[in-house]
Amino acid sequence: MTERHMRTGVVGTGHVGLVTAVALASMGHEVVGMDSDQEKVAKLKDGQVPFFEPGLQDLLTKEMESGGLSFSSTSSEAVIGSEVVFISVATPTRSSGEANLVAVEDAAKDVAHHAEGSLVIVEKSTVPTGTAHRLRSTLRRERPDLADELEIVCNPEFLREGSALRDALEPERILIGAESERAFATMRRLYGPLVDRGCELIETDIATAELTKHASNAFLALKISFINAVARLCERAGADVDAVADGMGRDSRIGPAFLNAGLGYGGSCFPKDLAAFERLASRFGYQFPLLREVARINDEAVDACAEKVREALWNLENKRIALFGLAFKPGTDDVRFAPALTLARRLWSEGASVVGYDPVAGDNALQEFPEMEVVKDPYEAARDAHCIVLCTEWNEFAELDFERLKSELTYSIIVDGRNFFDAQRLEDLGFSYHPTGKPGF
Ligand code: UDX
Repeated sequence: MTERHMRTGVVGTGHVGLVTAVALASMGHEVVGMDSDQEKVAKLKDGQVPFFEPGLQDLLTKEMESGGLSFSSTSSEAVIGSEVVFISVATPTRSSGEANLVAVEDAAKDVAHHAEGSLVIVEKSTVPTGTAHRLRSTLRRERPDLADELEIVCNPEFLREGSALRDALEPERILIGAESERAFATMRRLYGPLVDRGCELIETDIATAELTKHASNAFLALKISFINAVARLCERAGADVDAVADGMGRDSRIGPAFLNAGLGYGGSCFPKDLAAFERLASRFGYQFPLLREVARINDEAVDACAEKVREALWNLENKRIALFGLAFKPGTDDVRFAPALTLARRLWSEGASVVGYDPVAGDNALQEFPEMEVVKDPYEAARDAHCIVLCTEWNEFAELDFERLKSELTYSIIVDGRNFFDAQRLEDLGFSYHPTGKPGF
């Protein structure tokens, strides 16, 4: 077994925790991942990644075989002997919009219970500013004997699903919020391999680190909603939103990223982090209505796409609509808050029958919305359909045989929810092509 630097525990092995565990093991640490979901732990012990994330399966297999990564359903194995324990459990949204931190509190109690001496406990889950204070009082209440030994660090993740491993191993910045030199020193050792490769490690206070995470996600969502609002205006003014975005993005103060107009954002982060950030702001006595507007414009993006389908098909009753792509973005099988499913529910509620195809997210989509038909092949989805809506811009859709699609379709209509297709090529093939945020054909 190769020499391992630090024994590290990761409590919560979802999209963030599992990527973190595998990345830390690949940096040379000895990592124990823990989850309360016995079924998930059984799969992980068997060397299986329970969700689709490019590259994760291979690296997990490699690190488990080298002995640097193991899994357990009991937190004692993740805590005992560890210098650092990450808390990366889910923080879903309550109906009030507040982040539900019950799992965070439970994890903290668990870790405190098994702690044997000095230990750095790391907030990896996205949590509202002020959570560290809650954590500290919980730890001290559980273990007054270790009051000065248990340290809190905030180390927010900036992973994007579909590129999570790359984001973990080549982060543009590592953000560490801590309160003691000892805690900073521990985290510098932990991330030493990445810092040696030139990664920037930013050290700040805990509240700043917690708030930076929410502010980053809120700003990225704001950028997407901004260009989607511009798309609505372009549709009315006869302008081309992609050309507008290109003109804007060449200004280095704006930058081209996250200016792709379309069906808007989904996923387990932006929708819930925006709501949590707004609730957190109002709890601190600051009203942040801009964030509500970001969410409204995002909902409006789906409405605009549904309107394009209505425009193209007239009545939706007795019409069959094929959705190409169901995941909230390419590169993942995650359908949480996926705009494609919001659209599917909308069209279905207006009487259409909806059939969906996705390279990897079909099963998850069916669990979320069983009223939809899900097929394993785009041409089967197109069969007898009155319209195709491109909802997720998977690269494989660029290689489709459009002549064959046309022969399957009842109407040769394509609504492009992500401006992914080559408009001229489809028009030359005789399709009625409806882009987003630009004059139609
Ligand atoms: C996001 C943040 O990017 C990441 O830093 C954070 O840690 C977690 O949340 P993720 O939600 O996994 O990551 O994916 P991301 O690539 O940010 O896309 C989010 C959504 O925005 C997707 O639905 C995507 O389709 C949409 N999007 C993205 C747009 O609609 N337009 C864009 O230009 C970019």
